[in-house]
Amino acid sequence: MKIILAAGARPNFMKVAPLVRAIEEYNASVPSEGGRIDYLLVHTGQHYDFNMSDSFFKDLKLPQPHIYLGVGSGTHAEQTGKVMMEFEKVLLQEGPDLVVVVGDVNSTLACTLVSVKLNIPVAHVEAGLRSFDRSMPEEINRLVTDALSTYLFTPSPDADENLLKEGVPAGRIYQVGDIMVDSLLFHLDEAKKSDILARLGLLKGSSPSPNSVVPYALLTLHRPSNVDNRQSLQKILSALELIAPKIPIIFPIHPRTQKQLGLFNLQDKILFHDIDQVAELSSPGIHGFDPLGYLDFLSLMISARFVLTDSGGIQEETTVLGVPCLTLRDTTERPITISEGT
Ligand code: UD1
Repeated sequence: MKIILAAGARPNFMKVAPLVRAIEEYNASVPSEGGRIDYLLVHTGQHYDFNMSDSFFKDLKLPQPHIYLGVGSGTHAEQTGKVMMEFEKVLLQEGPDLVVVVGDVNSTLACTLVSVKLNIPVAHVEAGLRSFDRSMPEEINRLVTDALSTYLFTPSPDADENLLKEGVPAGRIYQVGDIMVDSLLFHLDEAKKSDILARLGLLKGSSPSPNSVVPYALLTLHRPSNVDNRQSLQKILSALELIAPKIPIIFPIHPRTQKQLGLFNLQDKILFHDIDQVAELSSPGIHGFDPLGYLDFLSLMISARFVLTDSGGIQEETTVLGVPCLTLRDTTERPITISEGT
């Protein structure tokens, strides 16, 4: 059995890590080489900066990708098209029995399309999530990927229901639970050892006991609907300016958002820091800096008073951690975060 695991963007990496671990464990338990799963990890290169990609591979102890496509940024058509062209070459050369895709980014969609056109079955992990908002690029990616996949691995009952309503035969749906939560629980202890709170000046005393953490809010923001339009971004920043005098807002800034803040001349709303230097972020304000790795960010989530985010995954991660989350969107593909009341 030869499998290709495809990943390309930051929110994919914590979803392929448990799969790689499971395959490695399985292979170690099989006595003869013939029964092992031959797998290749393909990184499309949709995300390429150190702190959007390599730092996740390091934190998640993922092996270096066997194949790197180096696709990079572009419009939706450019990015999707480039992944398709490069991934098709890999499939023709490697001839896998199965392609596994995760999540809902452009790489997920592109790898799925190419595979099914070559009659290679696709398994989609995190299938069935729906925001019912087709203005979100991810919603289009989810709909197309699920329509074309042979095996649909779902995280929650609502996902099964969505797929059944769309006419997916029940026999193709496997409710396996949330793989992103598998990653979170697996790395929780290690994340608690991160020194990020101390590095950001968010500890009151010298010992990192829960009481010694300065209260802070954690913010992430990168949805095109929030940051690509000046008015929307300004509106959100105005709301944050009301909160910031009461509690420091800690804001690792996605590259898309950094670009848009510059384009709209809104950088002065943020206090920018170089967190490679010792920082002191316990004072009022919106404290911005470059994106963080997986473990440091998880550590910041664990100790936050509350989280403000437009990310999909963070809504669920905070739910598992029991940290209140304010979702900065009109819709969510994770209704469980509402039914659970987090
Ligand atoms: C993508 C996903 C989104 C996911 C997000 C997480 C799609 C349609 N969107 O959005 O679902 O929530 O990743 O991060 O697939 N850039 C860099 N360095 C990088 C990567 C991107 O500077 O390593 C900048 C580039 O200017 C690029 C912009 O960020 O144009 C957007 O990157 P892109 O991959 O197109 O979309 P994201 O907003 O990251």
